[in-house]
Amino acid sequence: MSTADPRTRGIDLDRAKATVDAILDDFLTAKARSAVQRETKQFGGLLTGLVDAGGKRLRPLLCVIGWHTATDAQEPPALWHLAASLELFHAFTLIHDDVMDRSATRRGRPTAHRVLAARYAGCGQARARDWFGTSGAILLGDLALVWSDELLHRGHPAPRQLAAVLPLLNAMRTEVMYGQYLDLLTTGRTPDLPTALTVIRYKTAKYTIERPLQLGAALAGAAPPLLAACTAYALPLGEAFQLRDDLLGVFGHPHHIGKSTLDDLREGKATALTALALERAGPHDRTRLEELLGDRTLTEEGAAEARRIILDTGAPYTVEEMIDDRYHQAMTALHHAHLPDNAIHALRTIAEAAVYRTS
Ligand code: IPE
Ligand code: IPE
Ligand code: MG
Ligand code: MG
Repeated sequence: MSTADPRTRGIDLDRAKATVDAILDDFLTAKARSAVQRETKQFGGLLTGLVDAGGKRLRPLLCVIGWHTATDAQEPPALWHLAASLELFHAFTLIHDDVMDRSATRRGRPTAHRVLAARYAGCGQARARDWFGTSGAILLGDLALVWSDELLHRGHPAPRQLAAVLPLLNAMRTEVMYGQYLDLLTTGRTPDLPTALTVIRYKTAKYTIERPLQLGAALAGAAPPLLAACTAYALPLGEAFQLRDDLLGVFGHPHHIGKSTLDDLREGKATALTALALERAGPHDRTRLEELLGDRTLTEEGAAEARRIILDTGAPYTVEEMIDDRYHQAMTALHHAHLPDNAIHALRTIAEAAVYRTS
């Protein structure tokens, strides 16, 4: 292969991120300009704030790499808009997720429902303010979902391209709702490992890794075997990504992860980590851990006690092993996938960043 051959050229992920960010910025700036009222401008501005606060942009990047798994043609506007639309879809899931998880911080800033609650001056009662915050955040999440769809169409995908991506988009939208519902159902209950793994497959692995990658590939005209190869890489990686998230959610640094390390414990999230810890703890520690998990008033001191019990069971090490296993499964799938070199290289880079991370 000559160096002029695009297959030997790397995919510039920094440039891809900058291109997606510019599209998001243009889109949200135009929305702010057309929001005639001060209140609605401020409301939409909360979404701009969340997008501007950063984030790894994993989903848009995977979408761009997906394109390169199927073609060596240059990325068209339809791809960039599809990629950017996935970030607005992600913003929608985050805003609603933070309501469901009663989270106060996201990307190092107060969550949308908290900002809205604080802004509500109509009534002094805390319950009324909280209700306003929750209701406003439901609407803001809906707005992000609707704008995500609008942004996709701004790229003017050809009818053939739209026909290829819509079934995958529909699947992604349904899967994440089902996953989040399962997450709600299991929260506060004694978790078991197989159930915890099913939940993370639906609530995270599919919409974070599998579908974005397939969507980029499908836009480029990928045939079913290529889409299946994307899945073989993406599902183990997506599970590893959420397993890491669960570890960071308890043992990470709040400043690095941009969210509290009390939330999962206070909510009593049924994660692989807590499933293993409860299964292995002796009777005394198990009873104590059951008391601590799901305690909405849990203090830093109580959280430290929960962390100590979890550590004593060795559960974090087992979760690390589960992450490694899944990472290696993803790498093996990549090895067998017969993809262009530039896509393989980028997928390796993303896998490592997604799984071995501190933020
Ligand atoms: C957070 O996703 C929600 C999960 C699916 C775990 P990310 O970790 O991709 O969040 P950002 O976009 O980088 O903030
Ligand atoms: C991740 O939810 C899945 C979605 C946001 C759909 P979590 O509740 O596990 O993740 P964080 O900790 O809020 O990012
Ligand atoms: Mg959450
Ligand atoms: Mg959640």
